[in-house]
This record gives sequence, structure tokens and C-alpha cells, in this order.
Amino acid sequence: MTEEGQHPQALQQPAAAGVNEFPLPSWVPEWALHAPSMKVIPPGPKSRDVVKLDKEYVSHAYDRVFTFTIDRAAGATVADVDGNQYIDWTAGIAVMNAGWGHPAVVDAIRLQSEKLVHSFANDTYFDKEAELARLLSEISFSGRLKGTFFGNSGAEAVGAAAKLSTYYTRKYEFLSFYGAYHGRVGPALNFTSKLKYRFGFGPMNNTLFAPYAYCYRCPFKMEYPSCDLYCMHFMEEQVMNLGGSTGSLAAVIVEPVQGEGGYIVPPDRFMPFLRKFCDRNNALLIADEVQAGLGRTGRIWSSEWTDTVPDILVTGKAVGGGIPLGAMISKPEIMKRWRPGAHSSTFGGNAIQMAAGLAHINAIVGERLPERAASLGTYVMRRLREIQERHEIMGDVRGLGLMIGVEFVRDRKSREPLDITQLQVKCYRKGLLTLTAGTYGNVMRISPPLVISSEFMDRGLEIFEEAVRDFERDLTQAQAAAGPAAPPSAH
Ligand SMILES: Cc1ncc(COP(=O)(O)O)c(C=O)c1O
Repeated sequence: MTEEGQHPQALQQPAAAGVNEFPLPSWVPEWALHAPSMKVIPPGPKSRDVVKLDKEYVSHAYDRVFTFTIDRAAGATVADVDGNQYIDWTAGIAVMNAGWGHPAVVDAIRLQSEKLVHSFANDTYFDKEAELARLLSEISFSGRLKGTFFGNSGAEAVGAAAKLSTYYTRKYEFLSFYGAYHGRVGPALNFTSKLKYRFGFGPMNNTLFAPYAYCYRCPFKMEYPSCDLYCMHFMEEQVMNLGGSTGSLAAVIVEPVQGEGGYIVPPDRFMPFLRKFCDRNNALLIADEVQAGLGRTGRIWSSEWTDTVPDILVTGKAVGGGIPLGAMISKPEIMKRWRPGAHSSTFGGNAIQMAAGLAHINAIVGERLPERAASLGTYVMRRLREIQERHEIMGDVRGLGLMIGVEFVRDRKSREPLDITQLQVKCYRKGLLTLTAGTYGNVMRISPPLVISSEFMDRGLEIFEEAVRDFERDLTQAQAAAGPAAPPSAH
């Protein structure tokens, strides 16, 4: 990483965009051109009615962030049932990369649904399934990955990757990373590190965890590059030897840019190191591109930034353009080893999924959205760093393309994490939707639809800074109300 914590290759991104350099696409309807537009402080009365019904009947497991009820969305604007319109910096958790309501995706879904909804693709062949698998191969390291299994979510794709890895290698152990998020069902939960998501669901004992290259919070208190990537040596020498391995490592599963863990961009040597580590251990490398993939970081796959070709790649979220879809793509020699019937899903290759996926990926590639993300992302990072100079609590600004994280701390010296739930609330009450991430809930993630305009980004940045200022003021007032800090303990 560079001094500023930026991925070195990000420096080769195109020059920063200026205001209005990127307008919203011409298909965005008139109503969605003007955001934010706040009619009531959310949640408005109509939202509250739905929240009441929901609380009575829907599982509490869904831990809702926003208290409003979503109504419609277009481009990079989300509207609630009370008429509020928000600038969207979430893309619905990195799903709507080509923009909400992209006409090609909407038409594809409509036309396909009139013809065939359920393709019964376990037992019949379906043209769009083959076409989407071909398209995914074409955009995956010039066809070096070829052979796709379709499921319905990111976690399912991770589960399929785990099964394929054990089948292919005849081994059963996995290595994942601190802060990793790979989903919450089946094998995906084994690979997810956070206690909050694992608590009460043991035993899950075929996964070893190693430190991710999270340089801002290096567990070894070292600095890159002088550390010589010590975390990776620790993984190889300590975790593999003393961390409970049975010597049966099937695969390493990794997010090339960590998402839920805090939008962490590792140094450029991290992925190539893992590639070599897997080769040395006859293990497979699984790149989880569910959140970082499909243009978000400025490349189709974030692994491309370091020219690391994984053995298996998993994708989800954006791959279905808003329709639930997950896919696992592998090197052909690995996929070919699976016997027919080795894995299956009733809805795998579903007609609507395939039609929507084809339209969405064609839009991302055809409209050169990765390039747009790279250019706009460089501009946004520069603006955020200017804002950071004025606010001590903005500890780190990092990212690739339009996958940007801002890590909040009590002060830059101690780096004590600062929970930013209230900052997020302030943002959305002012009309800006953001999500948080990170082990301590102290990272704001900026992951808008890639078609967002420079104008919406600029307006969003103004709201963001206003909210940061209000948040700082609240912190100061809370501190004053609490009185002077207690003297240090004698112990
Ligand atoms: C990197 C990563 N992998 C896997 C998943 C799981 O995807 P899903 O929620 O579709 O099961 C997620 C979801 O956030 C993710 O970010």
C-alpha cells in the first residue's frame, strides 16, 4: 500500500473526473433526476404502518438499518412510500451496478416472464443458461475460467465452491481470514469470521483463520512494505503449523478486497502470495467476488488488479441485476471432475435469472462501467481525503473504484474505533443512503450504482460532511455532559 493507504495500482486509474463529467444515463426518468428530496423526516406515516405489520410477521433476524419503507428506485435514486427521495450510495448492498431500473434489465425480465419463468434447467437445456455461462467465461481472465454452476445467492455459490474443492482435491480443510464474510448458510458460515454471525451455530471445525492484510489495524503493529507482508508469513508458518491444521488443506477462500470486514484493500502482493501459497500446498484458490466483482472496483473482477487467476471464482449480488442469482466459475479441468448430479438446485439456471444476468452484465461491459467506476472513484477518494483533513475522526480513506471505505476513529493517534450508526442515521435523514461495515461497525461504505453522476456524488459528499460535522458536535456535547475524564487508574 502507498503512504495514503491506497492500492498502488489504483494510482494508474484514469485521471479524476470533474463535476458533471459523468451525467446520469439518459434513461433515468425525470422523477429520479432530483435527489435528495425530503418531504418528511423518515420514517413517515406510510412507512410506519408497514414497519408495524412487518414487526408482527417477519423474522426479527433481518436487522434493518433504515426505518423507512422502500417504494421504487431508478438510476441512483431510491424513493420511500412517503415521497422522500434519497441519493443512493449503497446500490442495495452492491447489487444494482448498472443502476436501478436499467431498461435492458427490466425489458429482459418482462419479455422472459411472458415466455417462460421457470426453465426447469435441472432436467432440460436452456439457451440463456448456456449463453450466460459463456459470457461469464469470456469476462473471466480471457476464458481461463470456463464452467459455471448457477445457484440463487452468493452463499450458495460459496457452498458450491467448497463442495467442488473437496471433491477435486480429496481434502477437507479450508483457510479463511479474519474479518471475512462469505454468507450465513451452510459452508459459507464456516468461512465467515465475525462472532456475531457464528455465535450459537457451532461446531464448525474444518476452517482455519489467518489475519487479513488489514494494514490500518495491523495485528502485528507493522507497516507495509517494511513488514514484507509478515501476516502472510505468519499464516504460512504459524497458522498452518500450530493453528490446528490436519494437513488436508483443500482451498483458501478470500475476498480480494474485503467487503463486510471494512472495505479493506490489501497490498498488491497479497493475492499473488496466496496464489503461490495455494500452489505450494496443492490447494485451490477461491476468489469471492460476490461484493467486489462486476465492475465495482474498476475492473470486472477485483482479482484482476493483481493479475491473480483463481482456481474458482464465486459471484452473486450484481450478477443477477437484482434477481437472486449466484454463480461459481472454475478452471475447466476442475469443473470437469464433478460427476453429473454432484450438485444441484431446483432453480439453478432459472429463466428470469439468466435473462436478467445476461442483460445486466452486457450493460456493465457495453457501457464501460468499470472504467467509469475507476475514474469516478479516483475523484471521490480525492474529495474524501480533502474532507478527511478537516475531521480528526476520519481515520482512513481507502478503496478501489467505487468500493470505498471511510474508517472512523475517536482520534487518529489512538485509532480507537468509533461506532457510526448515528452518523448513518444523520446521512439518511438528510437524504443520503449509506451502509456501514467493519468488525467494529466503524467503516462507512460507499458503493453506489456505477452509473451515479458526478453531481450526485458531489451532493452526497456535501451531505456526508454536514453529517460528520453534526456527529462530531454530538460527540463533543456527550463528552461535556459526561464531565471530565477519570484520572488514569493507579494500577
Ligand atoms: C463477499 C461476500 N460473499 C458472500 C456473500 C453472501 O451473499 P448472499 O447474501 O447472496 O448469500 C456476501 C454478502 O454480502 C459477500 O459480501
